[in-house]
Amino acid sequence: MTRYSRIAGTGSYLPPRRVTNADLAAELAQRGLETSDDWIVERTGIRARHFVGEGVAASDLGVQAARHALEAAGAQPGDIDLIIVATSTPDMVFPSTAAILQHKLGIALGAEGALAGCPAFDVQAVCSGFVYALTVADSMIKTGAANKALVIGTEVFSRILDFNDRTTCVLFGDGAGAVVLEASDAPGILATDLHADGKHVGILCVPGTVSGGQVLGQPLLRMDGQAVFKLAVGVLEDAARATLAKAGRTEADIDWLIPHQANIRIMQSTAKRLKLSMDKVVVTVDQHGNTSAASIPLALDAAVREGKVRRGDTVMLEGVGGGFTWGAVLLDF
Ligand code: ACO
Repeated sequence: MTRYSRIAGTGSYLPPRRVTNADLAAELAQRGLETSDDWIVERTGIRARHFVGEGVAASDLGVQAARHALEAAGAQPGDIDLIIVATSTPDMVFPSTAAILQHKLGIALGAEGALAGCPAFDVQAVCSGFVYALTVADSMIKTGAANKALVIGTEVFSRILDFNDRTTCVLFGDGAGAVVLEASDAPGILATDLHADGKHVGILCVPGTVSGGQVLGQPLLRMDGQAVFKLAVGVLEDAARATLAKAGRTEADIDWLIPHQANIRIMQSTAKRLKLSMDKVVVTVDQHGNTSAASIPLALDAAVREGKVRRGDTVMLEGVGGGFTWGAVLLDF
């Protein structure tokens, strides 16, 4: 019998501090920078985002999202035999945020004292991170390397924003989303499609690095917004079409499109190219901003909890981001 993977439950978590465009405009004004709710809404669709408080790390948000996903799946931490975390804002240089999160979840290590915990690792593909991580988990479940995986996207992007650059700091937020992906006799995940093109590294990056006990280079986000916009629209259409072709489906089969939540205009262009009405597109960017690897699982969980995405619906998840990276996952929920 063919082995597939399916989403057994979803969860998400947003830090409590909600910052509206007006709040942010007031903060930036104190730095001598001018922005407005009108400008941000018109160019991006963003109305508010959430920011973490002092000392809160990606694993802290991720563990909350994971607990909600476990609860929705009717699973216990001890049932999990694989953890993959997608993040560009890890707790530390190493070890992985996934390993830290495993400990915070309190996953038992088998016999007393035995080092028998499940594999846990991070995936770094910036805003495409969640579709990358879901694809890896799907592959590991299909080969029998795992039975029940936690796949988490979690970000504290506020830590790498330059609040003296109004062209970028208004775009991003913090948050986490998670799914429990489990082995199944029926799909589940129908097809996946991943890509990267490293020649575009410079258009969206945090170029700093740690060396000899110091930060070398710029440790804050840099972006050429117009270059990102143009590339994003093209590759999102290509990835959706490639994934549909692999699954033997068409655009007409898509019940819900859940694109990376970067900018409403990118989502509208993608929907238009795929001849999908905006009624079929899940939009949370207005309330979350761009939460990078967390944006897709956050949007999926919101849509599930609002009763939009239901069991049996065909859902297209699409990521695009720094690298340049992009990809899609088509699934029957
Ligand atoms: N408030 C007010 N004015 C601003 C702001 C701001 N926050 N930021 C820029 N401006 C000004 C600029 O200085 C410029 O002024 P000028 O004409 O006097 O020079 C004017 O607004 C227009 O600036 P543009 O950069 O041309 O604005 P654009 O329409 O391209 O919108 C944006 C910028 C929103 C970044 C757009 O390029 C975009 O959405 N790009 C996609 C990038 C994106 O979504 N990235 C997310 C990360 S990537 C990812 O997740 C895939």
